[in-house]
Amino acid sequence: MDKLIITGGKQLSGELRISGAKNSALPILAGALLSETPIIVGNIPHLHDITTTMELLGRMGVQLVIDEKMNIEIDTSTINNFEAPYELVRTMRASILVLGPLLARFGSAHVSLPGGCAIGTRPVDIHLDGLTKMGAEIKVEGGYILAQAKRLKGTHLVMEKITVTGTENLLMAATLAEGKTVIENAAKEPEVSDLANFLNKMGAKISGIGTDILEIEGVDQLGAKDLHYDILPDRIETGTYLVAAAMTGGNIRVKNTRPNTLDAVLEKLKEAGAEIFTGDDWIKLDMKGKKPQAVSVRTAPYPAFPTDMQAQFTAMNTIAEGVAVITETVFENRFMHVQEMQRMGADIQLESHNAICKGVDKLAGAPVMATDLRASASLVLAGLVAEGDTMVDRIYHIDRGYDHIEEKLAQLGAKIRRVPN
Ligand code: EPU
Repeated sequence: MDKLIITGGKQLSGELRISGAKNSALPILAGALLSETPIIVGNIPHLHDITTTMELLGRMGVQLVIDEKMNIEIDTSTINNFEAPYELVRTMRASILVLGPLLARFGSAHVSLPGGCAIGTRPVDIHLDGLTKMGAEIKVEGGYILAQAKRLKGTHLVMEKITVTGTENLLMAATLAEGKTVIENAAKEPEVSDLANFLNKMGAKISGIGTDILEIEGVDQLGAKDLHYDILPDRIETGTYLVAAAMTGGNIRVKNTRPNTLDAVLEKLKEAGAEIFTGDDWIKLDMKGKKPQAVSVRTAPYPAFPTDMQAQFTAMNTIAEGVAVITETVFENRFMHVQEMQRMGADIQLESHNAICKGVDKLAGAPVMATDLRASASLVLAGLVAEGDTMVDRIYHIDRGYDHIEEKLAQLGAKIRRVPN
């Protein structure tokens, strides 16, 4: 397993290009299963989760061609099975996103249950409940979801909890259902809107995009000739580099991003003392060499502060001026980074859903590892401000969701290298 070694102490500066959003690319590639015509999806990030998704679709018989600019051409005309096997689903929970499209278009899906997950139990009951209400017959047998439906029927769904992939699965299923579906208490994450816009480009009739009530008028088939859809820039990748710069007292400009998807994060960075300037597709952050002020955050569904930025802000607070409380409300077990940061000298106390962080003068480099994507990234950030070397192990988590992280950080002046094992 590769490792990253970071030698702390460099102030980040310079310019960086943000990649396409992982959490848009995954549902959109699954959504391509709904298309009768070949389509092209562009601005695909270079990530391990994308490789897994391509393998998943490839095993179903879908033809995929990727070019050097990371455009993927997807042709579903040769699809010959509707299964998402355990060995792929267990490495990437987002594989559950093929359930809705397979069922809606082919009337059958055989998808492994995702099972346990490092950041909490993360059940899929809301996905299954919604599909059942649309007329699907669903059984769970031998760890697999076996779903059948002649044609799904539009219905009125009120989501019991806000769920991102749950909303996406039901949205995709509803596009080909008979009649109208309403999804109330839908997730409003920009990635959900990106998927909805993509589906509309294929001929779906979705309204209420960006709100918590989605209305979908079912159509008989989807597909559009010569469709090329570029996915949204990654707001979490953007936020991660901005926090990295803020922690080091740095000054960076990120381009090919969407500042209006990061309001809550930018507000908190300003509270930490950063000067922020934005244009249509760029953000500039300047800390003027200062240490950040500690900032308290409370995670919640969009447009509130994202759980996917929680670990990075925890990292920033470890070396900030003052005391702050980080409250995680979305997942019950998303503080795995805390123990590792404590090993680097951080002063953090965990009290149920809260992490109370008291800034220290300096962290000390140490060998660390984490068991999920954002936690691992936050340890890289901690390494940027630690004295000496930090060795981050199990970085396959990082490679699942950050496009060439060591190259991008090195481009900003960080001392970081990957060592193969
Ligand atoms: N939940 C249920 N039942 C369900 C579905 C969800 O109880 O049927 C609960 C979950 O256990 C959790 C809450 O609802 O407590 C919200 O989970 P959600 O379903 O929204 O999460 P997700 O769709 O599995 C996506 C992202 C995550 C991100 C969350 C929250 C993708 C592929 N993944 O997960 O991204 O943290 O939304 O915003 O879109 C990451 O990128 O590192 C990542 C984990």
